[in-house]
Amino acid sequence: MWRRRWLPASSSTGIRSRSAPATPGKLQDFLARHPGARAASFADAAKSGELVVLAVKGNVALEALKAAGAANLSGKPVIDATNPIADAPPQNGVLKFFTDLDRSLMEQLQSAFPDAHFVKAHNSVGNARMINPDFPGGAKPTMFICGNDDKAKAVVRGINDQFGWETADMGKVEAARAIEPLCMLWCIPGLTRNEWTHAFKLLHEA
Ligand SMILES: NC(=O)c1ccc[n+]([C@@H]2O[C@H](COP(=O)([O-])OP(=O)(O)OC[C@H]3O[C@@H](n4cnc5c(N)ncnc54)[C@H](OP(=O)(O)O)[C@@H]3O)[C@@H](O)[C@H]2O)c1
Repeated sequence: MWRRRWLPASSSTGIRSRSAPATPGKLQDFLARHPGARAASFADAAKSGELVVLAVKGNVALEALKAAGAANLSGKPVIDATNPIADAPPQNGVLKFFTDLDRSLMEQLQSAFPDAHFVKAHNSVGNARMINPDFPGGAKPTMFICGNDDKAKAVVRGINDQFGWETADMGKVEAARAIEPLCMLWCIPGLTRNEWTHAFKLLHEA
């Protein structure tokens, strides 16, 4: 859904496609509107990319990474924007997760693909504000990130800078236990009051 936001801001031209996407017409429309874009299989997109963005439904994240292939992900930063949202409906605006607070989705992905450098990012903001968010007074929202590889996190920090975000590095992969539920918090105003235009900011005393 939100790949169209990233493409114009990215020097990469690859997006992946399933051989039978749920909405095949949508992909063709997207390609027609973005002449620089190229659709490829998961494996080809991962192989040719210097950086991989994982942006599929949380419960198929492992499946998508298997299709990409461990060798094609090895040594590369993988921005993990997924959330472990369960199929059960939200309760009073609170999403249900299929994970628990002692084991995040990103920890599962990192264990399954130990040579890929996962960085949790972009999971707790709507796609409309991922790039060049426009908040009063030019305030920069905070992108909470985590991951085991410092070089991969530096790459993601650079992208966040470019996209108009400040970065708060919360540490190693286990911090995804705290970052993934920010998606639940972010969605409550949307699901209960149809308000989707906010973002989080971490304040520090001077
Ligand atoms: N939407 C946002 O604003 C936003 C913001 C932050 C984070 N996220 C996270 O980003 C991820 C994607 O969100 P979304 O809004 O696009 O909707 P979604 O319904 O959570 O995910 C839809 C995407 O998952 C893919 N997909 C579904 N089943 C698949 C399978 N078996 N194998 C491979 N790919 C499969 C779909 O591919 P096809 O197109 O081929 O069907 C589509 O690209 C989620 O984890 C979500 O939590 C979304």
